[in-house]
Amino acid sequence: MSKQVILTGLRANNDLTLGNYFGAMRPIIDMAKTKAGEFQVNMFIPDLHSFTTPVDHAKLQEQILHNAVLFAAAGLPLDNPDIHLYRQSYVSAHSEATIILNNFVGMGEMERMTQYKDKSSKLDTERISVGLFDYPVLMAADILLYGATYVPVGDDQTQHLEITRDIAERINSRFGDIFTIPVAVKDQHEFFNKDQGLRIMDLQDPTKKMSKSDDSGKGVIFLGDNPEESYKKVMSATTDDKASVNYDRENQPGITNLLDILALLRGADVEEVIREFTGVERYGDFKKVVASEMRDFLMDFQARVDNVDMGALETKMVESEVAMSKQANETLVRLQKAVGLR
Ligand code: TRP
Repeated sequence: MSKQVILTGLRANNDLTLGNYFGAMRPIIDMAKTKAGEFQVNMFIPDLHSFTTPVDHAKLQEQILHNAVLFAAAGLPLDNPDIHLYRQSYVSAHSEATIILNNFVGMGEMERMTQYKDKSSKLDTERISVGLFDYPVLMAADILLYGATYVPVGDDQTQHLEITRDIAERINSRFGDIFTIPVAVKDQHEFFNKDQGLRIMDLQDPTKKMSKSDDSGKGVIFLGDNPEESYKKVMSATTDDKASVNYDRENQPGITNLLDILALLRGADVEEVIREFTGVERYGDFKKVVASEMRDFLMDFQARVDNVDMGALETKMVESEVAMSKQANETLVRLQKAVGLR
């Protein structure tokens, strides 16, 4: 028996925030490390998805590589034979399967996709591409070609996972056992212990999530920030006038956020950090600790990015692309035969 497959697309770009790092990147990497062995773990860069909304194509290639570099720098093990790291466009079966699957998906169900509605509503009509519309079918191909059972994704991707299940069930009921059906979203959450992920809040407005769409950028730490700059951002974080450090999200959201952040930076239990700082009266003293650990963290992360072994990374991707093409092509041929193309 071959191992069950866990699969996810690694979306990253140059302006990842501290929130993305601790809320998405690290949990995915930790998951890969713990599940590899028992499972095959497919982590891929959805490069064909990356220009479903307009991008600067002169920079795309560099960004795709940088995406892989960020995951390597954040600790994705390149030497684990159960973890595969590949670029979607290097496995041509993704494109081929999409073209076939397109014919088994209705316009109506695709028009109901909320991500499409959201993203297209932000574009001028002539810039809305067929690629954006077809995004979920390519995603279904990404998943179904490997018979993936578990697909950890953010809540914004729930609907895409559901349509993937629908497509797989439809093909199977018409043509026999072609695809493995990924497990339902609520069972995915159980499997991955969702809700453990912490939300890092904006430093200026600690009642809202830290997000790169914030205009000023003052409340947001980016992984590429100048470390000295990050020190200043923490020092000017919004707090309160209670003059006593307490872990109290309701009444002291700014301080609470800084306690959470410090625990994440240290890789420590938040309880430990709470014990150390509760009752401290001078916020400046507490902030200095957080600010300097933030600066150290960014310096360290940026050094890791610079030191990623590009040769080893390239080798890993090429090896994975060869192995995954083999797997994906087996499913593709099964699909081609089923529909009468072979
Ligand atoms: N759409 C996913 C995201 O935005 C990325 C992705 C593409 C993906 N294909 C996938 C995730 C297949 C899981 C499985 O996060």
